Amino acid sequence: MRQILFMDTTLRDGEQSAGVNLNPQEKLQIARQLERFGVNIMEAGFAAASEGDFQSVRDIAKVVKNVSVMSLARAKESDIRTAYEALKEAVAPRLHVFIATSDIHMKYKLRMSREEVLSTIRESVKLSKSLFPVVQFSAEDATRTDYAFLAQAIEEAIRSGADVVNIPDTVGYTNPQEYYQLFQYLKQHVPSFDKAIFSCHCHDDLGMATANSLAAIEGGAGQIEGTINGIGERAGNAALEEIAVALHIRKDYYNAASSIVLKETKATSSLVSRLTGMIVPKNKAIVGANAFAHESGIHQDGVLKEASTYEIISPELVGEEQNKLVLGKHSGRHAFTDRMAELGYELAEDERDRAFRAFKQLADRKKEITEEDLHALILGETSLLDQQYEVKHLQAHFVSNGTQSATVVLEDQEGNTLEDAATGAGSIEAIYNAIERILKLDCRLVDYRIQSITQGQDALAHVHVELEQAGKRVSGFGVAQDVLEASARAYVHAGGKLKRLAVSKR
Ligand code: KIV
Ligand code: ZN
Repeated sequence: MRQILFMDTTLRDGEQSAGVNLNPQEKLQIARQLERFGVNIMEAGFAAASEGDFQSVRDIAKVVKNVSVMSLARAKESDIRTAYEALKEAVAPRLHVFIATSDIHMKYKLRMSREEVLSTIRESVKLSKSLFPVVQFSAEDATRTDYAFLAQAIEEAIRSGADVVNIPDTVGYTNPQEYYQLFQYLKQHVPSFDKAIFSCHCHDDLGMATANSLAAIEGGAGQIEGTINGIGERAGNAALEEIAVALHIRKDYYNAASSIVLKETKATSSLVSRLTGMIVPKNKAIVGANAFAHESGIHQDGVLKEASTYEIISPELVGEEQNKLVLGKHSGRHAFTDRMAELGYELAEDERDRAFRAFKQLADRKKEITEEDLHALILGETSLLDQQYEVKHLQAHFVSNGTQSATVVLEDQEGNTLEDAATGAGSIEAIYNAIERILKLDCRLVDYRIQSITQGQDALAHVHVELEQAGKRVSGFGVAQDVLEASARAYVHAGGKLKRLAVSKR
C-alpha cells in the first residue's frame, strides 16, 4: 500500500479564512491537537507576514516534536531568512517557498517574465536548501499555468534542491479528471519527477477540493494538503478529515494509507471549529452533527437490523462518541486530571486548578457532564489565562418592550476591578455597551454567533464574536452555562485583543 503524507495548513491557509483570527495560545492548542491527529507536516504560519505570525511559528516549532513544522515564504531572501529564524528550534523544520507561474499572475501580480520567474525559483530554492533540511516548492496557480512552462519551472525547482513540489489549485478551478491528467503530464514531462514528492493543494471554489485531491493521489501525488473542516481562503481548502476517511473506507480502491489517527477526527474538528468560530454545517461529511443520523423510517429499520445497510463509516471510527457521561458531581480532582490526560490535555498546574474549579461549579448545576462539555470547559478556562480582563460579575435587568440595562464588573490582570453600567435595546447590547465603556473601545460588532455544546436545557453555550476597530478585526469566544455570561466573556475576550493591538501599535 502507498503511504500518503498529510500536510495540514489549518494554521496558515485556514487562518486566512475571512473573520478567523487566532491568538498564539489558540494556535498552540490546535498544533498540539494536530500532532495527536497524526498529520505528518503542519504549516504553522507565514513567519514573515507579521511579528505575531513569526512568534507563533516559533512557539509551535518549540513545542511540536513528532510532526515536521513548516513556514510559508515568498521566493524572497528576507522571507526565507525570517522563516529560518522562526524555525530554528524545530525538531524537523521545513520551508515552503512559493511563486506564481500562471501567465495571469506573472503579468498582473508579479510583473515578471517567465525567465525572471525561473531564475527566482532557482535562487530562492537554492538559498532555502542551504538553510533547511527539507524544502517544499509551490508553483502558485499551477492549474492555470501553461503545462510546458509548469514542467520547466518544476524541473528547475527540483534541480535547485526542492524535496517536495506542490501543484496548487489556488483558485479552485480544476476538476478531478483534469487534475489527474496534470499529474500524469508532469510525470511524463518533468525529467526529475521521481526525485521529489509531488503534493496537491486544492481549494473548494467549485466544490471539488476533496474529489480533486483524491484524483491527484491516483495521478501520482504522494502528499495531500488541506485543513481541518475545510476552512480557508474564500470557499476553503480540501478537508483533511474527508480525505483521510475516504482513503480508509475505500482502501480497496485507492490502495493508499496515511498516518492519521482517525479516532481523533471529531475532537480535532470540534477544537478548530470552536477556536475559529467557523461552525461546522450539520450535513458536513464526516464531522457534521447529522453525519451519522438516520432519519427516514426505512433507513432506521435497515440500520437497526444491520448497521452496514446504510452506514459506511462507523461513528466510533472518527471518535464520534460524545454525549458519553464522563464525570459527575462526585468526581474528584484525581478522576478529573486522569480524564483530562485521556482527552489529550497537558495542563499546567494553574490551568488544571482553574479548570477543576470550573468543572466543580458546572457539576453543581449540570446533571451530566459529557466529553464535549469538558473540551468546551477547558477551552473557556485555559483561554482565560491569556486574557487581559475577566468577567467577575454581570447583572442584566430585562423588561419586556423596554430598554434593557446591565452592570458589568471586570478584573484586569493586576487584580483591579473595573465597573460600569449601560443600557441597550436588548440585554446583550446593554452588556456590550457597558463593556465598551469599561474598556474604552470604539469598535463595531461584525459577527455574533451562539452554539449549544450539547443538547438539553442545561447545555453549555458557546458564543463567538468578531469585532472591528480601525480596520482591524479580532475574534473572541466565551463559554458559560448562561447565554448572557457566555456573550459577555466572548466580548471581553475579543475586546482584550483589541486593547493589546492598540498597545502594540504605539
Ligand atoms: O493556494 C495556494 O496556492 C497556496 C500557496 C501558497 C501554496 O496556498
Ligand atoms: Zn492555498
